[in-house]
Amino acid sequence: MATLEEIKISAKNNMSICKMCKSCNGETCRGWTPGPGGKGTGSSFVRNVSMLKQVTLNMKVLYEDNDVDSSFDFFGSMLRAPIMAAPIANVKINYGSTVDEKTYLQALGHGCKEAGLIAFLGDGANREAFEMPLNLHKELPNDTVMTIKPWLLDHVFSKFEEVKACGSKAIAMDVDAAGLTLLKQMGVPVAYKSAADLRKIKEFAQVPFIVKGVMTIEDAQNAIEAGADAIIVSNHGGRVLDDCVSTIEVLESICTFVSKRMKVYIDGGFRSGADVFKALALGADAVLIGRPFSHMAIGGQQEGVALYANQLIEQLKECMRMTGCMTLDDIRRTCVNVHF
Ligand SMILES: Cc1cc2nc3c(=O)[nH]c(=O)nc-3n(C[C@H](O)[C@H](O)[C@H](O)COP(=O)(O)O)c2cc1C
Repeated sequence: MATLEEIKISAKNNMSICKMCKSCNGETCRGWTPGPGGKGTGSSFVRNVSMLKQVTLNMKVLYEDNDVDSSFDFFGSMLRAPIMAAPIANVKINYGSTVDEKTYLQALGHGCKEAGLIAFLGDGANREAFEMPLNLHKELPNDTVMTIKPWLLDHVFSKFEEVKACGSKAIAMDVDAAGLTLLKQMGVPVAYKSAADLRKIKEFAQVPFIVKGVMTIEDAQNAIEAGADAIIVSNHGGRVLDDCVSTIEVLESICTFVSKRMKVYIDGGFRSGADVFKALALGADAVLIGRPFSHMAIGGQQEGVALYANQLIEQLKECMRMTGCMTLDDIRRTCVNVHF
């Protein structure tokens, strides 16, 4: 069985664009979009990672020894932890991957399932870029979530029809992809969505609807008005707006505003179980992790994904133990300090 270090070396050998840096922090790949990096100066990706380091944990170990339970309810499916793989599409163009998209997707989906987690899957401009993740979703409807781009409404509805036919537990939309350079270059009609548009989409979905790409209280309010079941606080890994605030910086105020009216997930720069713990303490229900999961799929296929997922779960549980939290509900604001 390969180690994580060996899988990382293999990932580096299997990618010609992504440099597989020791710390995946957006420094080397500043501006590489298409590519693995952040848009423009790359500051948004870099900030996502660096601001997470500005949150520290409070150690608390004097309590009656007990088992730690990190299990998480995702719309009726029990996961081993509130951790999910973020949707990442087009690994050939973005990473220069020698592993093809289908193999990568299979590794991601089955690796997450093996570890007791789920994977969000992306969508793209051409039919193949939708069909490949859809085929995996058909195979694993309970363990994957399709993330549809904010196309013009008719196109959204026809794609949702195909997704729903798979027996989906939930459907997501990355509304911030309306600003994605790559899609614009391909001349595909994506569009910004109003609360009224979102409501129509939610009504059409008939399953829990997750809005990915919320960074302000105003957009959270729009998502609530539309009847969304969850939002993902996300700036698309820093790929849609340069000089954007980091996701961890806006999380707490959004969670306070939402006040449990819908679920709040977050992504952007999360790399370890400790990072996940920080978001939970600031009010998030769950965390999505993007680039590292795709590296593991490219470097170690299903085994690599499961190994990384298990490491994340163990790290989260270790943080829970060392802060006196036996369940996710015990993870509170007082468990962390925010230095920004
Ligand atoms: C190469 C690449 C491709 C991506 N493709 C998609 C996509 O198809 N759909 C989507 O919603 N987000 C996409 N994202 C954004 C991720 O889902 C996620 O928001 C982001 O990567 C989280 O940050 P992290 O990678 O630092 O964990 C992509 C990100 C990268 C780096």
